[in-house]
Amino acid sequence: MQKNWKRYTVTSALPYANGPIHIGHLAGVYIPADIYVRYLRIKGKDVIFICGSDEHGVPITIKALQEKVTPQQIVDRYHAMIKKSFEDFGISFDIYSRTTNKVHYETASQFFKTLYNKGIFIEKTTEQYYDTELNQFLADRYIVGTCPHCGNEKAYGDQCEKCGTSLNPTDLINPRSAISGSELVLKETKHWFLPLDKFESALRKWILEEHTEWKSNVYGQCKSWLDMGLQPRAVSRDLEWGVPVPVEGAQGKVLYVWFDAPIGYISATKELSSDWEKYWKDKDTCLIHFIGKDNIVFHCIVFPAMLMAEGSYILPENVPANEFLNLEGDKISTSRNWAVWLHEYLQEFPGKQDVLRYVLTANMPETKDNDFTWKDFQTRNNSELVAILGNFVNRTLVLTHKYFNGSVPLCQDIKQEEFEMLNEIAQIKSNIELNIETFKFRDALKEYMNIARLGNKYLTETEPWKLINKDIERTKAIIAICLEITGTLAILGQPFLPFTSEKLYKMLNLENITWDDVGKKPIFKAGHVVNKAELLFDKIEDSVIEYQINKLKASKQNFQNNYVQLKNNISYDEFAKMDVRIATITHAEKVPKTDNLLKITVDLGFEQRIVVSGVAHCYKPEELIGKQVCLLANLEPRKIKGIESKGMILFVENGEQLVALSPINSVKNGSVVK
Ligand code: 2FM
Ligand code: ZN
Repeated sequence: MQKNWKRYTVTSALPYANGPIHIGHLAGVYIPADIYVRYLRIKGKDVIFICGSDEHGVPITIKALQEKVTPQQIVDRYHAMIKKSFEDFGISFDIYSRTTNKVHYETASQFFKTLYNKGIFIEKTTEQYYDTELNQFLADRYIVGTCPHCGNEKAYGDQCEKCGTSLNPTDLINPRSAISGSELVLKETKHWFLPLDKFESALRKWILEEHTEWKSNVYGQCKSWLDMGLQPRAVSRDLEWGVPVPVEGAQGKVLYVWFDAPIGYISATKELSSDWEKYWKDKDTCLIHFIGKDNIVFHCIVFPAMLMAEGSYILPENVPANEFLNLEGDKISTSRNWAVWLHEYLQEFPGKQDVLRYVLTANMPETKDNDFTWKDFQTRNNSELVAILGNFVNRTLVLTHKYFNGSVPLCQDIKQEEFEMLNEIAQIKSNIELNIETFKFRDALKEYMNIARLGNKYLTETEPWKLINKDIERTKAIIAICLEITGTLAILGQPFLPFTSEKLYKMLNLENITWDDVGKKPIFKAGHVVNKAELLFDKIEDSVIEYQINKLKASKQNFQNNYVQLKNNISYDEFAKMDVRIATITHAEKVPKTDNLLKITVDLGFEQRIVVSGVAHCYKPEELIGKQVCLLANLEPRKIKGIESKGMILFVENGEQLVALSPINSVKNGSVVK
């Protein structure tokens, strides 16, 4: 049994303010949340819809570093951009706030202090890697090194993506900073940990026993986390960018972004209303978090544990997380520019917000990852929105004007099967409601379109154009029924296609009729005048789709152009002709009167050699001494600046830099590389 809630607090994940919004965000989080909220509002519920920019976290500081601007400049830029594109797209937040607001700093600090004063946190001093070049501790993701399990040299401090092992930064062999490339030192630092283990049994009971109705992807992920056993989690970081840890002795430390971000929902509510507490503390308020699947643990485990620890807040009633949306068969990726960006869509498809809403709802990744393709976008527009919905509305309004001057005819001759069809539509309405209430937005939309399908079928079968001169009463009935269906489409379309519904309302001069009236009383009275048909949707041509596909192809090409093209295959015999050996550099000096040549002596075990390498711009001579390198030993000797160079030391091109290749473990000089 659904509880009779007094009010609803609906949140949607706060997007990081370090990049624009793309279709994956929309399909995963913002469109489902918006459908849900619009529906609740139409049903007359007291609801607030909360969002804002998540403006802290390490990636923002790194972007700032790369662009040589401040983190504040980065978040100002993207906050403005994201806010505007949401507005233009019609996501109907009651507030779109940001976590650099004063009220957020106060709220997050206060929250931390409350937990601190209650003695909730564990204080622990641990050793962490410190980048001496940047003068900062590094987050696990920004430490790279060699995986102790598979030897992958690009493993991250939290995980090796090659073998999938989850790691601690101290597990890495030869750890380096991913930002500056420099070597790291271990340094002691104190942090505050939230003891999730202490909340484990309460969380188990709350989720696994009391919320068996949650979506299976969400429930399953929570169960597997809980079954693994929860550990204390650090809620502070050594960083300058963020909400300062509000206690003594916490200089240079800020709240972990995942501690402050969800509190952002509360801060934004405070900003919206002085009466904010009832939306967060009253047991009759239904709190719903819309998120993507990568946020499940934070919204179902960490944040609820924080709320439990604080003590005065309600817990979420549901967390309907979606899976991911792919694009043309590939993962959406900001760095590869493999995305459809909302701000670009809005520019390139003006007035077509509902088309994207429709396609993304129809393909919403509710239970599994899904794919967006431009072809499907075109087909759904042309064969569904234009051919089914637009066509039915258009035919109805054109006929009403043609036969009755735009005035709704009096329906006196209604048949049994017409009653049945109207009953079926009333049933569809209930299905839509149930589907929305249980977060099945794809099914809800499908049901909605079935109304237009029924209407088209009805019009095609009854053929009023053949009756108008023979049976005026039947014609009146048919047109009146089609208008009722059109009105139903206007009203029930509001959560899904808000721009289209608004146009329909105007076309139909619809007033004083509510969602709840649909199926209970007629929408129109005879004599009500409707306006002329306006185009709701128009066909999208192949050229438009080709343009978009080419644009994506160009991104792929651009990305691939960052890499040197692979050479043609060679045979093993050709490869085996090269004699590459390990050698130790015993001496190096600059070649006089040259900019970048070094005269290097190497020890091959069985002989000493001299080679000349153009690497003085990358290495000082003394840096090379004692290092083992790879030498192509059977390269024809050459004279360079009068010096006979016998062989070639192998280097890796890294942008402008050349990096020498060394064996991971030291080996005997003269060993063969193959
Ligand atoms: O994953 C993300 O994009 C996060 N910025 C979501 C934060 S949701 C909430 F906790 F603020
Ligand atoms: Zn590995």
